[in-house]
Amino acid sequence: MRIIETVVEMQAFSREARKNGKTIALVPTMGYLHEGHASLMVEGKKRADILVASIFVNPTQFGPTEDFDAYPRDLERDRNVAVAAGVDVIFAPKASDMYPRGFQTFVAVEELTRHLCGASRPGHFRGVTTVVAKLLNIVMPHVALFGKKDFQQLAVIRRMAGDMNMDVEIVGMPIVREADGLAMSSRNAYLGPEERKSALCLSRALATARALFRDGECRVATLREKVLRIIGEVPGATIDYADFRDSETLEAIETANGQTLIALAVTIGTTRLIDNCILGEEN
Ligand code: PAF
Repeated sequence: MRIIETVVEMQAFSREARKNGKTIALVPTMGYLHEGHASLMVEGKKRADILVASIFVNPTQFGPTEDFDAYPRDLERDRNVAVAAGVDVIFAPKASDMYPRGFQTFVAVEELTRHLCGASRPGHFRGVTTVVAKLLNIVMPHVALFGKKDFQQLAVIRRMAGDMNMDVEIVGMPIVREADGLAMSSRNAYLGPEERKSALCLSRALATARALFRDGECRVATLREKVLRIIGEVPGATIDYADFRDSETLEAIETANGQTLIALAVTIGTTRLIDNCILGEEN
């Protein structure tokens, strides 16, 4: 496996690969890789000749009071996960190469970013779409894979790629969970043992709402009250949002159906976690 650290070298590599008729898959990450990332990589490997994983903790998607400095980083560990998952190239640029002096161009998706994490984290999605647009331009993949745990991020990136006529297929992959239901996330590393237990309230609330829906409950007010109660009972859990939305438009709804998204953002101690499910689906 090769590690490429500069934009110029990455572009030259991809240009050459494409000239030789090779297809490229990209898995964009911020590192501290876990099985969720590995599942994207394994799928990427099936879909293209060359698998590139980018590792870049993107400063423009963090707010001034957020965890950019504390975000876990461990390239050696990431290298092992990437090798095991079949990655051919790790692209790990420096911030000064991605955002050189004078940088002033941003990509922003307007409507889809007004809700959920877009409302709680102003500027976050502008940073995400900007860096993903740059990564797509640099790596020039035929396909790029993202996890559905960041459901809104996936919707926003799909919209950007469509609206900007980007010549890339965007693939969403199922959430990967720990055996006890906790959605895998690099930020789980922040949780102490008690917080780790408390964090299970997210997946528990989702599973309970889904079971109620299966038993015929469609009123969002009732389902939401149950979700709020389950999370509210947990010491140290603070709800940022617990929203029921149309999974296509992300608009709020009052009557649930099989395609309804439940999106949660909950702070456990000081760690902000997100999770979601589609009511009529299994994961
Ligand atoms: O989901 C992430 O890890 C990041 O938001 C992404 C897509 C790699 C952009 O920095």
